[in-house]
Amino acid sequence: MAYNLFDGFPQPYSLAEAEWWCGGGHREPQFGFVWGIEVARPGGGDEIIGCISVEPQHGLWASSAVLGYWIGQAHWRRGITSEALGLVTAWAWAALPQTMRLWMPIYARNAGSQAVARAAGYRLEGTMPLAIRKGGYAIDAVQYGLTRPGAQPGEHRLPPIS
Ligand SMILES: CC(C)(COP(=O)(O)OP(=O)(O)OC[C@H]1O[C@@H](n2cnc3c(N)ncnc32)[C@H](O)[C@@H]1OP(=O)(O)O)[C@@H](O)C(=O)NCCC(=O)NCCS
Repeated sequence: MAYNLFDGFPQPYSLAEAEWWCGGGHREPQFGFVWGIEVARPGGGDEIIGCISVEPQHGLWASSAVLGYWIGQAHWRRGITSEALGLVTAWAWAALPQTMRLWMPIYARNAGSQAVARAAGYRLEGTMPLAIRKGGYAIDAVQYGLTRPGAQPGEHRLPPIS
C-alpha cells in the first residue's frame, strides 16, 4: 500500500500510528476533509477498510482541491474506491462552493489509481516527469482532474465567501 502513497504515509504502519489516526489525527487541518470507507461485514456489522480525503488548497491554488484515497488490499478490485470517489466528488461540488477544480497527482506506475480516477469521470491532464520524491527516488507522476460541472475553462466568477 505505502508503495503508491506519499512518503509521509507511515511504513511500517504501527498500531500506535493507527490509533493516532483513528483517534483524531485524521481531523488535523492539514489533511482536509477525511472519511473512512465503510463496508458491511458478511456476518453483520460494518468495517472501515480505507480512507478518502479532499484537501482544499490555499493561496494561488485556492480554487482547487486535491483528493487522495486508499483501501486495504483484501478489498481491491470490487469497485469500492471508484464508488467512494464518485460520492466524494459529488459532495465536494455541493459543499465547497469556492472549489472549481478537483485533481489528484498519481504515480505514473499506479495503474489502479488511474483506473479509479477514470471510472469516477476524471481525465488525464498531463504527465509530470520526475515530479515526486518517493523512497529515495524521483519518479514520474500523472495528473488527473475535473472541473466543476457547468463551469467553462477560462475564467469563472467565484461566489462571494460567506
Ligand atoms: C488504487 C486503489 C485505490 C484501487 O482501489 P479499488 O477499490 O481496488 O479500485 P476499483 O475496484 O474501484 O477499480 C476501479 C478500476 O481500476 C482497476 N484496477 C484496480 N486496481 C488495479 C490495478 N492494480 N491494476 C490495474 N487496474 C486496476 C479495476 O479493474 C477497475 O477498472 P474498470 O473500471 O475498468 O473495471 C487500491 O488499489 C489502493 O488502495 N492502492 C494502494 C493505495 C493507492 O495507490 N492509493 C492511490 C494513491 S494516488
